[in-house]
Amino acid sequence: MSKRGAWRTRFGFYLLAIGSACGLGNLWRFPYVVGENGGGAFILLYVFMALAIGAPMLIAELMMGKNSRRSVIVATQQLEQKAGKGFRWVGRFAVILSIVVLSYYAVISGWVLHFMTQFLISIFSPPEMITAKTNLAALMGNGWLQLMLASVHLLITVVVVVKGVQEGLEKWISYTIPLFAILVGILVLKSFSMPSTPEVLRFLFYPDFSKLTWSSLNHALGHVFFTLSVGFGTMVTFGSYMREADHAPTAGFRVTLVDTAISLIAVVMIFPVAFQASNIPLTDPALMFEVLPKYLLAIRGGNLFGLAFFACLYMAALNASIGLLEVVVSNWVDAQKKMERGRATWYSGMIALVLTILPALSSSVFKDVRVLGRSLIESLDSLLINWLLPMVALGILMAYNRGVAEKEKELSFVDKDKFVSYTMYPHWSFTLKWAAPLVIVLGLVMQMIDLWL
Ligand code: PHE
Repeated sequence: MSKRGAWRTRFGFYLLAIGSACGLGNLWRFPYVVGENGGGAFILLYVFMALAIGAPMLIAELMMGKNSRRSVIVATQQLEQKAGKGFRWVGRFAVILSIVVLSYYAVISGWVLHFMTQFLISIFSPPEMITAKTNLAALMGNGWLQLMLASVHLLITVVVVVKGVQEGLEKWISYTIPLFAILVGILVLKSFSMPSTPEVLRFLFYPDFSKLTWSSLNHALGHVFFTLSVGFGTMVTFGSYMREADHAPTAGFRVTLVDTAISLIAVVMIFPVAFQASNIPLTDPALMFEVLPKYLLAIRGGNLFGLAFFACLYMAALNASIGLLEVVVSNWVDAQKKMERGRATWYSGMIALVLTILPALSSSVFKDVRVLGRSLIESLDSLLINWLLPMVALGILMAYNRGVAEKEKELSFVDKDKFVSYTMYPHWSFTLKWAAPLVIVLGLVMQMIDLWL
């Protein structure tokens, strides 16, 4: 158990779980997915799905890890006797998904690194040079630069993970999270003073349900899983490091609340600027990177502010990447006892690096490759997050549902000191058994219909 490294403090667990949940998904992905799905009605749907489906599933994954003290592959294998043979594959799929997502996440983290260094350089450059340097188009056209940045990011991630869960980042993160909160707070206030604000608030918070499409339910669910790190096995691994006394339902619920709040703050921060000045469609994956740097450079002291902002965002991206790599490594070591942790980490990093080549070159070398009218990186994003992720998340849920007895679930959920856990238990149990599987299947079916229409 000590070798597994249970966190010394509860705070340490929260830092990593919240750190893994809050990342580029909230600041980069959520805004353009909201743009794609027409604003207010989608946000409402998303928040509902996060609380009603995401939180219960996150809690189940934490419990799966906490009770088995194993990572997702071995945990699902242990359940397979009761759940059925096929479930052995679920854990493996989750790990494969994690490494593929890591490689594509590394490309976006590389964009963050780019802007961070550009803001650093801009502090020492004459003003007329600055705009050209923080230009997104220059980065998009240069695939090799993107590949290099993604490799640097992967290298940093590997080095941190080699050092182990307990050391390393905990301290750093506890500094950067509050700093980031302050910077984002300032930006939100600033964006609120823009003339476009009333129009933006209407777009974001006035639900126009006619803007939803057949795919919107699944887009909401896919993003909920992605942003809460559900369906990757990450939370199973983190649950396996929880202390015995920690209450998984409370932890899961808190992580969901913080993560959802951050996503909402992100859209309120980015959309006023996007409405005001942008020449880029709200649906473009590069939305945040197009909008924010330009805006930051236009305000006084913007280059210092930009540096601090992108440095904090980079810490968030790094933290999330660590979560992804950690799943792969802990599973590898758990499943193959002979594999040494350090070696597994380097190998996984190398596999991710090879996989990174495709998304990194998507906007340059492969810019003419289009699948159903979408660029390569958009198609990859859709395949991973709107199709595979809900399926794997459903698989893990089914393994838990079928493999764990009702009594055992109740014992792990109900805490005699927390009255609310008694009242919540029936809802949680119903959601896991019926609501979540049905909604996921419905979302996938509706998305298929959308493809045909
Ligand atoms: N939840 C992270 C984000 O929103 C992404 C992530 C997924 C991180 C899975 C770790 C594991 O950016």
